[in-house]
Amino acid sequence: MSEVVTLERQGAVAVITVNNPPVNALGVAVRDGLQKSFSAAEADAEVKAIVLVCEGNTFIAGADIKEFGKPPQSPSLPEVVNGIEAGSKPSIAVIHGTALGGGLEVALSCHYRIARKDAKVGLPEVKLGLLPGAGGTQRLPRVVGVEKALDMIVSGNPIAATEAEQLGVVDELFEGELLAAGLAFAEKLIAEGKGPRRTGERTDKLEGVDNAALVAAKRAEIEKKTPGLFSPQRCVSAVEASFTLPLEEGLKRERELFGECLVSPQRAALVHAFFTERQASKVDGLPKDTPVRDIKSAGVIGGGTMGVGIAMCFANAGIPVKILEISEEARDKAIQRARDTYGMSVKRGSLTEAALEKRMLLISGITDYADLSDVDVVVEAVFEEMGVKQKVFEALDAHCKPGAILASNTSSLDLNQIARFTKRPEDVVGLHFFSPANVMRLLEVVRGEKTSDEVLATAMAIGKKLKKVAVPVGVCDGFVGNRMVFQYGREAEFLLEEGATPEQVDAALRKFGMAMGPFAMRDLSGLDIGLAIRTRQRQTLPAEYKLPTILDKMAEAGMLGQKTGKGFYVYEKGSRTPLPNPELPAILQAASKEQGMERRELSDEYIIERTMYALINEGAKILEEGIAQRASDIDVIYINGYGFPAHQGGPMFYADAIGLDRVYARICEFHEQHGAWWKPAPLLEKLAKEGRKFADL
Ligand code: 3HC
Ligand code: NAI
Repeated sequence: MSEVVTLERQGAVAVITVNNPPVNALGVAVRDGLQKSFSAAEADAEVKAIVLVCEGNTFIAGADIKEFGKPPQSPSLPEVVNGIEAGSKPSIAVIHGTALGGGLEVALSCHYRIARKDAKVGLPEVKLGLLPGAGGTQRLPRVVGVEKALDMIVSGNPIAATEAEQLGVVDELFEGELLAAGLAFAEKLIAEGKGPRRTGERTDKLEGVDNAALVAAKRAEIEKKTPGLFSPQRCVSAVEASFTLPLEEGLKRERELFGECLVSPQRAALVHAFFTERQASKVDGLPKDTPVRDIKSAGVIGGGTMGVGIAMCFANAGIPVKILEISEEARDKAIQRARDTYGMSVKRGSLTEAALEKRMLLISGITDYADLSDVDVVVEAVFEEMGVKQKVFEALDAHCKPGAILASNTSSLDLNQIARFTKRPEDVVGLHFFSPANVMRLLEVVRGEKTSDEVLATAMAIGKKLKKVAVPVGVCDGFVGNRMVFQYGREAEFLLEEGATPEQVDAALRKFGMAMGPFAMRDLSGLDIGLAIRTRQRQTLPAEYKLPTILDKMAEAGMLGQKTGKGFYVYEKGSRTPLPNPELPAILQAASKEQGMERRELSDEYIIERTMYALINEGAKILEEGIAQRASDIDVIYINGYGFPAHQGGPMFYADAIGLDRVYARICEFHEQHGAWWKPAPLLEKLAKEGRKFADL
């Protein structure tokens, strides 16, 4: 018998236990162990019922994602679950933590299911570019009906145990010990003489409903929301088979569709995104036993756009936080802003009034640094001016207790210089949140030249506590994300000078999968930010680095984006819907003329190459300089902070998929045509010539 799955008898009940840390994934050893244990229990005449339970923090969290793309090994999961369902003795899955994907499919093949009250269940395969491939698309509709099954399978979002009970996915909820609950339920079944209850034999939930109409509506919704994704429509086709085909054929159809998804490039990219997000939290060279400081309280300096959002992150994690502002008026405004932002969540229904009040109790406003003498971490988010930062860090150094972490949210200033304003540069670190800080998952953790290992490890741990995707980066202008996005934005503007329109560029990049086009994004954040960077660069950059002039012309005409109602698009009062700006063509014409450029038609493919290859080339420079520790960390930053489509895997994965030789050759052409900005990164050149990938580094 496999050691990751054990079988023992407790009276008339066979107890099968899975113990495959960290998440009891269904690798080949677990599948084999389950199959053998269920068969042995079936063969044992003394056994009257079978309980399936898991060790550790969770029930089975799904197939072993590491096995995807490798040759299949027997027994397959469908074989295992079909065998469990066919059993003649009632089987009970005892769910705690999360029963996800293949884990829920195993549970659905058991004849009964009970769940601990805090558990969750779901079929998240679509998030990995897949569909449930072990009967989930056939059995879930038989339990909850086609409409709910489509919702769960196409969204991939899990549901709470309470909802699962209401829907009949689980029969009973329990609190406390797993095995005791499982045994009690089994004894009850035996006493009541209840036998197997096979989900696959049910048809009641499939009847009396216009399932075809539900399928058509879901298809239309997907076409509108995520037209470029491969697996969602296939999820629908698989669910469709649950009511158009008998079980066995439906399972066969599901398997075919699963196979199509398994070999799709999107599946590879999404699995890359899953693992690299987890890998990013591991800092190379940081000893595993590095101590992590306890963080029980926090301070935030500056209660503006970022400061309030950052304070909310701490409150959301249950950590009391004080916001320090320059005046009582500014302090009160910041507190009100936090309340208003939570209020919007209450209006949307994602937060209760009681939760709002609980979080607001954790946020307080102050104006005196002396009130920060007891906090464990302070995040500075004041104006982006070195002089202001200096005053703040000197005050923090004077008032904060020894061992407090002093963090800056600066997006472009030199963190090493900021650290030198204190007598404890080893305690200074960058915590670069993204706007809106309470929503965006990305957190760049900036390691200064003096930041200690302990402070870096604690900063990463703070990221995890705040439920952020924390990625370590080094000090340079713009760190990783903004340094790269600058290249991307500039090329997008050059495309306008060459002949494209904002509508065309945005549409091409949205089709590629970006959450937003660069110009709609510019309008949202305000053109003045980009303009300030441009102005600074004009003073410092060597002459061969040309810069587009469109932003300057637009600013002169008062077009600063949504805040002035006019930018690359126009916005009707109170609306965020971009409409064509009738004054823009004249500005574009003038800019083209000034550059001596004949405006021409540009293809979508060209637009994608110019913008994406600019990201990739800069990413290669960043890697070479050691600002990012791995190519995949750059992917994580782009997916979580810049709306880069996860199904393209991130810019560096995308480059590997195209082939670095092709990317390099095209960048050389751009270098010739468009000059200095396009000087190929030496690392890219080297990898391309050696036939290697970023992933090989
Ligand atoms: N296979 C292999 N490894 C997995 C895994 C899986 N299904 N799920 C998680 N892991 C690994 C992670 O990579 C991580 O490894 P690391 O420590 O080496 O970095 C470790 O388990 C812990 O994972 P998290 O850091 O994510 O732990 P959390 O406690 O935050 O979250 C979780 C736990 C909710 C289970 C989360 O890991 C998760 O969502 N996992 C994926 C679940 C999933 O997508 N299941 C469906 C798989 S596809 C499938 O089942 C196909 C079937 O239909 C045939
Ligand atoms: P903001 O202008 O909205 O807020 C700054 C706040 O700091 C104001 O409320 C101001 O009263 C307060 N303040 C100024 N001097 C202070 C002092 N000496 N003591 C206490 N409070 C003081 O600015 P925003 O956008 O929140 O930016 C803050 C920092 O975050 C900057 O360093 C910026 O570069 C960085 N950042 C901004 C992002 C954005 O998208 N806005 C994204 C990531 C980082």
